[in-house]
Amino acid sequence: MAPPDRSERLLVALDVESLADASALLDRLSGVLSRCKIGSQLYTAAGPAAVELARKRGFGVFLDLKFHDIPNTVAGAVREATRLGVFMLNVHASGGAAMMRAAAEAATKAATEFGVPRPLCLGVTVVTSLDRRALDVEVGVPSTVEAHVLHLARLAREAGLDGCVASPREITPLRLALGKQWVIVTPGIRMLDRAAPDDQARTATPAAAIRAGADYLVVGRPITAAPDPAGAARAILEECGQA
Ligand code: C5P
Repeated sequence: MAPPDRSERLLVALDVESLADASALLDRLSGVLSRCKIGSQLYTAAGPAAVELARKRGFGVFLDLKFHDIPNTVAGAVREATRLGVFMLNVHASGGAAMMRAAAEAATKAATEFGVPRPLCLGVTVVTSLDRRALDVEVGVPSTVEAHVLHLARLAREAGLDGCVASPREITPLRLALGKQWVIVTPGIRMLDRAAPDDQARTATPAAAIRAGADYLVVGRPITAAPDPAGAARAILEECGQA
């Protein structure tokens, strides 16, 4: 697959509550961005219609539903996501190797069956709202965040996934451990002038994430909550270009 161009590397997280809100946001971002991420809020509210809406507006869709279930159920979900024509989807790497293998195989099979491009299949490593204390005390993983991210990413690659979702702080070690072909998608992006990290614990600026080697940036509130979302998206793209 050809590497994404600059505007394709920035995905806006459509974390809104209705199709109408998604539609308004896509209208404002059209011509600036060409890819978006649809996650559990909008998908639970609007279902496949949300993906159809974005695709009709010319946006490629990363379906961020972070599947985590037994292999057969995840394979079925990946099949349906592939049928919707999304360019990227994800599963929780902590669901285990058999689950991830079932996901990767289902994507390949469904792409052939439905005559659509095979979506990139990512593993979610450690969500960016968790820090070391929470990972240890709450989740019960007595490891550093970085070591656990690397462990899950290696498992994901062995299981046939294409890349992973990881915070900006883990990009460099991931690149070193997994090489150039491994796709790295990074949320937790915050601009320097924006004081509040919201609920994100491990953040970086767009430039720092690109320099570290991220392939795609996922940005939600810094764009969607800005008074001028298109202007905010342009500023991030510019910063990525300079990096
Ligand atoms: O608004 P904000 O920029 O924090 O949005 C980040 C988006 O990336 C949200 O949709 C969130 O669900 C998603 N995400 C994340 N951390 C992960 C995976 C996905 O923040 N590890």
